[in-house]
Amino acid sequence: MNAILLALAIVLVVAEKFLVTYGECKITINKEKMLTVNGGNTLLNYFAENKIFVPSACGGKATCGYCKVEVLSGGGRILPTEEVFIPRQDRIKGIRLACQVKVKNDIDVLISPDLLEAKEIKVTVFKITDLTSDIKYIILKLDDPPSIKFKPGQYVQFKIPETDEFRAYSIASSPLQGNIIELVVRLVPGGMCSTYIHEALDLYDQITLTGPFGEFYLREDSDRDIICIGGGCGMAPIRSILLHLKEKNMPRKVMYFFGARSKLDLFFTEELNELERNFSNFKYIPALSEPKPQDNWIGETGLITQVVERIMPEGSNQEAYLCGPPPMIDASIKVLTKKGIREIHIYYDKF
Ligand SMILES: Cc1cc2nc3c(=O)[nH]c(=O)nc-3n(C[C@H](O)[C@H](O)[C@H](O)COP(=O)(O)OP(=O)(O)OC[C@H]3O[C@@H](n4cnc5c(N)ncnc54)[C@H](O)[C@@H]3O)c2cc1C
Ligand code: FES
Repeated sequence: MNAILLALAIVLVVAEKFLVTYGECKITINKEKMLTVNGGNTLLNYFAENKIFVPSACGGKATCGYCKVEVLSGGGRILPTEEVFIPRQDRIKGIRLACQVKVKNDIDVLISPDLLEAKEIKVTVFKITDLTSDIKYIILKLDDPPSIKFKPGQYVQFKIPETDEFRAYSIASSPLQGNIIELVVRLVPGGMCSTYIHEALDLYDQITLTGPFGEFYLREDSDRDIICIGGGCGMAPIRSILLHLKEKNMPRKVMYFFGARSKLDLFFTEELNELERNFSNFKYIPALSEPKPQDNWIGETGLITQVVERIMPEGSNQEAYLCGPPPMIDASIKVLTKKGIREIHIYYDKF
């Protein structure tokens, strides 16, 4: 019986793939832009064909959850593959994974207007250096377009050559240097993209990026004091924010707490110390959770959240930018709200 059902299911899938046609369908984006397509493929595919770069890290396999869009009508029922990424309250609003929505009829979608600005960016590898035993610093020179605009804190997606896979990497450089993108990439053992970057990427290689993306960026219309908290590669977007503030003459008070295990895990230290020497309203506070005797460490020790709790002044006229592993972000939010920062003034990227 099971074998018959399985055979029937396979026949239906194959028949849908090769025999069913949906004819011409219209995809209306943000109630203004319209794509006319031959139905049968996914929203994500049609977006890519039309150079609309919705973030996606898994090549459309419904395993990354990045490709969320709001479907106003015509998207059909949500699939079980989507449910894990879309909480109940978002399902009511029509949030869907673009890679799982097959276009079978006219469909009406809303995507963030920023995504319409995201581009394919061809770059050449200009420099690769080691920052720590498992973190590399990559400088990419833009070829086409020759420069881009981005907000400090945003990220790009790196296309792994010869695959349809992308991974997100925060831009570590200043937006004023629009012809260069710098990345800080940690090796995830067995990880596809980080291993490629660490083991195979070479000087002068040509790479395709898409972007810029992300809601984690410096709010420049605010005059609140700034608390930054970073760990590991969370340094990347915060460095971009700090470089931008430096270029603007550091108009706001900034405290940057950076957590590492031992001295070997610290990087960009000289650059940050110099920033501190040049701007009296910037304070860099690295902290080691497991300093080694040979570190001769006389700075802060403990988990970064404990250090923030000890040193950060109380006050509601502050906003915070956090980037690092999810447990660090979750614990930091608790400390920051206890100190008086409102949650709407806490911005973060977890990775
Ligand atoms: C907005 C955003 C910005 C990011 N910026 C950066 C950045 O600046 N620098 C950077 O190095 N990374 C960054 N990342 C993470 C990056 O996108 C990749 O997830 C990471 O490099 C792993 O990809 P991979 O292909 O090597 O591993 P995959 O092949 O995707 O994963 C291999 C295995 O490792 C696990 N895994 C994936 N990521 C991690 C992790 N971080 N820690 C432990 N295990 C993991 C997976 O669950 C899987 O089992 C960012 C992620 C996001 C969402
Ligand atoms: S592209 Fe990864 S879930 Fe849709």
